[in-house]
Amino acid sequence: MEIRNVRIGNRQLEIENALSSGTLQEFENLQRLNVRLAVAKHRYEIKIGRRTLPELGDEIHSWLPHRARRVAVISNQKVFSLYGGQTLKSLRAAQYVVSHWLMGDGEQHKTLATVQKALLFLSETGLERTDAVVALGGGVIGDLAGFAAATYLRGIPFFQVPTTLIAQIDSSVGGKTGVNLPHGKNLVGAFHQPCGVLIDTETLTTLAGRDLVSGWCESIKQGAVGNRTLFKQTRDYLKTIKSNPDALVSPALEKLIRSQCAFKAAIVTGDERETTERTDHLSRRVLNFGHTVGHALESITKYRRFRHGEAVGYGMLVAGQMSKDLGLLATSELELLRATVRLAGSLPAASDLDEGAIMRSILRDKKSVDGRIKWVLLERIGRARIVDGREITPRLLRGSITDGLKKNF
Ligand SMILES: NC(=O)c1ccc[n+]([C@@H]2O[C@H](COP(=O)([O-])OP(=O)(O)OC[C@H]3O[C@@H](n4cnc5c(N)ncnc54)[C@H](O)[C@@H]3O)[C@@H](O)[C@H]2O)c1
Ligand SMILES: [Zn+2]
Repeated sequence: MEIRNVRIGNRQLEIENALSSGTLQEFENLQRLNVRLAVAKHRYEIKIGRRTLPELGDEIHSWLPHRARRVAVISNQKVFSLYGGQTLKSLRAAQYVVSHWLMGDGEQHKTLATVQKALLFLSETGLERTDAVVALGGGVIGDLAGFAAATYLRGIPFFQVPTTLIAQIDSSVGGKTGVNLPHGKNLVGAFHQPCGVLIDTETLTTLAGRDLVSGWCESIKQGAVGNRTLFKQTRDYLKTIKSNPDALVSPALEKLIRSQCAFKAAIVTGDERETTERTDHLSRRVLNFGHTVGHALESITKYRRFRHGEAVGYGMLVAGQMSKDLGLLATSELELLRATVRLAGSLPAASDLDEGAIMRSILRDKKSVDGRIKWVLLERIGRARIVDGREITPRLLRGSITDGLKKNF
């Protein structure tokens, strides 16, 4: 049993009890990860396990440096009907005065108008500076509730309970919170680090298939830009569940999520605020691999055809093709990337989309600096290279889009 990540104290005692009472299995799957942010002088823990939700109240108690009295849960109807009961019960058992508020479901609700409603709720429920917000849901809830917590009384503690794969491996780590404007996604926001993240892998069993595919694409992305071992771990896991979909929730999943979170945390702790000048292979910018084309695909289809991660899946294939066409990436590496994206599941068709429209949309991408795009490409699986947009001819881009969006990639 791995006790390296387990806190000493009551918890250790519980594990020893479990050893003798035969419930060891429950604890074997537990993964803990400590994230330390040098610049923000902040540290928090990510706890990953199966059926951890009932422990939320106790965790918040141990994570908060002071004793909060009230906890306000922000969620949506779909997630709350599945996991709200357990969440409230656990918080009440830890003696918190609990209230909850449900926002609409979906990206279209990630707006300033919803933030205003969330802030009114926090105020009406009497939340004080030492109290806390819990975000229970996917990335939309995490981003919005995190932003409300960042701005209410100029910032109060908040906890993430991510329930989608994207939220568990990506959005709950890093401290980016925010909402969309009519002109584009995530244009308003704040860096606000959580005081703790509790991941219950069991929640993934109720997630729609496409949301899983979307999360797998983001997982592949993190391996592709950062770490060959992580890429292989993700690929091996995808192969296992392809042959046995019932094996979705397993100790291997907990380990994989831990590795994914560790990678994301390593990148963001090295570059907490996404420095625009940085173009090295460890800058936060590398997390945008597949996103330049991905955002364009989402935008020209008015966010109706693709889940975010599905669009990123295609975006990675296009960026991989560009890397190969520029002579940066070996053909065998591109094939490995393609085969792994295929393992994530099927993506909606994209070969009918107009390349010209995609190229125009790319030029409007907000990630461009001084009007120039910085492309995140690959030197090999596990190592990214940032390439200035001037090095990419329109012809090369058009060809890569055509190849990357082919049917049956
Ligand atoms: N802050 C960051 O660093 C960061 C990183 C990546 C993505 N994001 C943001 O995250 C958002 C996308 O996140 P998402 O993919 O989780 O979308 P989402 O929050 O819309 O969730 C997808 C769908 O799954 C439902 N759902 C959530 N948990 C469920 C569960 N356990 N069982 C059944 N249904 C469940 C939701 O209600 C929703 O309908 C985007 O807004 C994106 O900008 C932020
Ligand atoms: Zn993304």
